[in-house]
Amino acid sequence: MSEKVVLAYSGGVDTSVAIKWVAEKYKMDVVTLTVDVGNVPNLEAIRDKALKVGAVKAVIMDARDIFVKQFVFPALQADAIYEGQYPLATALARPLIAKLLVDVALEEGATAVSHGCTGKGNDQVRFDVSINVLAPHLKIIAPARDWGMTREETIKYAQKHGIPLPVTAKSPYSIDENLWGRSIECGVLEDPWTEPPEDAFLWTKSASEAPDKPAYIEIEFEKGVPVALDGKKMDGVSLIQRVSDLAGSHGIGRVDHIENRLVGIKSREVYEAPAATVLLQAHLALEAMTLSKDQLRFKQKVVPEYSDLIYNGLWFTAQHQDLATYVQSTQRYVTGTVRVKLCKGRAAVVGRKSPYSLYSFGLATYDRGDQFDQSASVGFIHIWGLPVRIQAKVQQIGEPEGPLGILKPKKKGAK
Ligand code: ARG
Repeated sequence: MSEKVVLAYSGGVDTSVAIKWVAEKYKMDVVTLTVDVGNVPNLEAIRDKALKVGAVKAVIMDARDIFVKQFVFPALQADAIYEGQYPLATALARPLIAKLLVDVALEEGATAVSHGCTGKGNDQVRFDVSINVLAPHLKIIAPARDWGMTREETIKYAQKHGIPLPVTAKSPYSIDENLWGRSIECGVLEDPWTEPPEDAFLWTKSASEAPDKPAYIEIEFEKGVPVALDGKKMDGVSLIQRVSDLAGSHGIGRVDHIENRLVGIKSREVYEAPAATVLLQAHLALEAMTLSKDQLRFKQKVVPEYSDLIYNGLWFTAQHQDLATYVQSTQRYVTGTVRVKLCKGRAAVVGRKSPYSLYSFGLATYDRGDQFDQSASVGFIHIWGLPVRIQAKVQQIGEPEGPLGILKPKKKGAK
């Protein structure tokens, strides 16, 4: 009996070629696993194609709910965004797919798992590191990293082996998408001076084409997790989908930046992430109202750490557990509602409320009803400024000097 390998299968040309290639080269039985983390059209067609190309079994899994609950929302609670630009959609899905690959491999008694990543991206790292942690005994086969075929050679191979190619003209882009966002690479986008053409975008209208009339949405959060939209309770998958459609139709969520890959290269990355853009902004707004100044400051230091570890494939690590525990703890009062205005490519928070709001009207107002004791400020300032006055007296009582206005000590003996 041949050994088995479980291959992460998207239904595209590369992973279809991989079925054949792995079966031929390694003489293994290929079981495919297709994971739906959102926006996978026609799962049945993908299953049929896998079997037709030569898989011995084709497994399909709807993982949208786990993806949202265990990956996307915890990342939202952490305000995770890589290099301040990328909401990490692909990066978040990889550890989940790795986990499901391992689960199926164990169930099937497979000795290896396989994925279609090339040798120059981040995804290979995310898969391999996660698989190595979860099931160190499994071999990892990454055909696209091994075979060194160009795009053309891959297509030739497919034709030679009767692997069906998409009938529609091949998109010039390499796409990866899930509920949290869509990544568009390759083609003309590889020239960082070229503006992304409109045909790169599928989820978002161009801001100039978006309606002039703004739309308002109200997002309700419970402990940092969105639970309702415009007063209607919703499961996470539906909520994200709804916000995505609406924000996308107002031209929100396009990202175009030069990203630092883990493997050392800079790449031009274009994303569409309408829901992530809106929800991250709304979540931050609610945190601003419910967390103390110190909590906010410290959390802001954690954001790049947390985001980098997701980007860098370190989901299944102790460091992640530690940071996630901290983030969870910060979210206990991040409950309330945020109103967001969507208009012409821009999402703006225009209202927020929370039963745990630290904002006090009585303390903030300049109108009648002011509860702030202004007379107490005098004593506060006296003590706050005490060390400054002492130091100025002992060391820096002179005039500001030079272009930087540095205080020079007065001459000895001067008063
Ligand atoms: N640059 C993004 C990341 O590293 C998106 C990668 C998209 N992956 C893909 N195989 N097309 O997470």
